[in-house]
Amino acid sequence: MSSLYDVIPPAPPKGVSTRRTTINVNGTSQTLDVEPRLLLADLLRQALQLTGTHKGCDTSNCGACTVLFDGRPAKSCTMLAVQADGHSVETVEGLANASELHPIQEGFKQEHGLQCGYCTPGMMMTAKALLERNPDPTEDEVRWALSGNLCRCTGYQNIVKSVLWAAKKMREQDQEA
Ligand code: FES
Ligand code: FES
Repeated sequence: MSSLYDVIPPAPPKGVSTRRTTINVNGTSQTLDVEPRLLLADLLRQALQLTGTHKGCDTSNCGACTVLFDGRPAKSCTMLAVQADGHSVETVEGLANASELHPIQEGFKQEHGLQCGYCTPGMMMTAKALLERNPDPTEDEVRWALSGNLCRCTGYQNIVKSVLWAAKKMREQDQEA
């Protein structure tokens, strides 16, 4: 019996029609031949091994699979990989650089914004999009932005504090630059 969590092979089986798809993922252009039915979340996790993008529901409810699609948050379980052809996708793996964490990651660490961590990559990507368009959000604005991301562990308080911590740090970095 097959399971919802069966591993999807990185390449489609022989004889299955594919479409050549080029996506800029975390700044690197990736060209793959993908089955038209393949979800973007599965392409990221299975073909590119970017397993930081989580799947919690597969029905566009939880937000664990959130990535940035051309800079805007998108639930990658509700998009086909071929729809990303010619577009850019950013995942949680693209946040940190070689030597330091992104301020959003630091904020989650400082303010204890995670417990099991399952929702965390999606929360962080949504937060990144928010802080790029609104560097000084109110608590209400953070809560509104994160309203499509569910956390089953926390009361959200520390997640909100983490994003506000990151916002402050990013503003300070901007002033220093
Ligand atoms: S796995 Fe995509 S919204 Fe839950
Ligand atoms: S930290 Fe566990 S689901 Fe959010």
